[in-house]
Amino acid sequence: MKIAVIGGGGREHAIIKKLKLNPTVERIYALPGNGGMTGDAECVQIKAMELDKIVTFCREKAVDFVVIAPDDPLIAGLKDMLNAVGIPSFGPDKAAAEIEGSKAFAKELMKKYRIPTAAYEVFTDEAAALAYVDGLTPPVVVKADGPALGKGVIIAESIPAAREAVHSMMSESRFGDSGKRVVIEEFLTGPEVSVLAFTDSHTLVPMVSSMDHKRAGDGDTGLNTGGMGVVAPNPYYTKAVADRAMREIFIPTLNAMNAEGRPFKGCLYFGLMITADGPKVIEYNSRFGDPETQAVLPLLKSDLLQIMLAVEEERLSEVSVEFMDKSSCALVLASKGYPEKYETGYEITENGVQGEIFYAGVKRVDGKIVTSGGRVLAVTEVRDDLANAIAAAYADADRIDFKTKYFRHDIGQRALAAKK
Ligand code: AMP
Ligand code: GLY
Repeated sequence: MKIAVIGGGGREHAIIKKLKLNPTVERIYALPGNGGMTGDAECVQIKAMELDKIVTFCREKAVDFVVIAPDDPLIAGLKDMLNAVGIPSFGPDKAAAEIEGSKAFAKELMKKYRIPTAAYEVFTDEAAALAYVDGLTPPVVVKADGPALGKGVIIAESIPAAREAVHSMMSESRFGDSGKRVVIEEFLTGPEVSVLAFTDSHTLVPMVSSMDHKRAGDGDTGLNTGGMGVVAPNPYYTKAVADRAMREIFIPTLNAMNAEGRPFKGCLYFGLMITADGPKVIEYNSRFGDPETQAVLPLLKSDLLQIMLAVEEERLSEVSVEFMDKSSCALVLASKGYPEKYETGYEITENGVQGEIFYAGVKRVDGKIVTSGGRVLAVTEVRDDLANAIAAAYADADRIDFKTKYFRHDIGQRALAAKK
């Protein structure tokens, strides 16, 4: 089979490395891929949002199956375009991807079908939003409606700060058009867990749970980032919590999307908070998480391509989806200064790394891999227990070098403490 994987980050690298293990795979194209994955895929200079070019390329090369990894092309309807020319793909269509594309849609879906989430209101009028904010007790959570790369959320510690957040989104286009509509919601507390699930709209199979670390600095300080490291499984996600999430959240979400005429096929990502009242949805994503994928897929025992094909062909119940009974740690190495200003163009060297490296913000210059982005790579180690996986990932981090190397020193520590 010839496969095309859309996207070019660490998540895509992790997906490609798993797809490669299937013996029927002859070729994997990465569009656009990155300079760190040239040993695993043929990188093609077509970007994830060049939808027409992607379709043309896949037709010309007679690609058999497309894996659409990032949110933007899913939300823009790449799946629908591929369907129109008869090329099967993994990922939801445009109607189903709205569960990530519009927070207002997602919130209204949860309200209608009584899926546990933070209480909220949606506003398109700034005066009304400000009046509502004035009646709340901080902290106040203000979210831009559309996709803003995980950065469109402001947790305001005071009413003036909440007013400022609303104003910056609605009048100053802080997140572009994404902020024309805002969602203001109740502040929830509790440990967060990411659960990725395969679903073909009939069957839903959760993958091993994980814990991302979104803040840039040690001790969960500093700015929100795309994610600085992940451990899996997440110790807060006990069997009891998992059963409750399945019953109260996962299955109801699947049914709700079907009832709305938007059957979801692909990877549905549940960002949950485990509150005193049980698990509640913080966000849905219509795709694999990044960097969750870099910690979760290395634990997958089953064949990823077979699962993805079964999802698309709506026969997920027929294939086996099994995970190792082990732990993993994916540690992100970033460019110092990320998520704000950082320098790029520095050569990356490695010596004796034992785990798997998933490249993200890199390119190839004269045969060398050099940094080109904020999150440069993730290194993942799998061990029988979490403490050893964390220690091994940190040992690997010391064996990788580039001038601006930066990483958090406490990835997984909260999870370790929770286990005790
Ligand atoms: P989101 O993009 O919706 O996942 O939000 C990003 C981060 O903001 C989440 O991972 C949470 O840490 C935090 N967050 C979002 N909504 C809430 C909420 N209602 N209460 C507390 N924290 C929240
Ligand atoms: N790691 C969070 C996300 O992929 O949205």
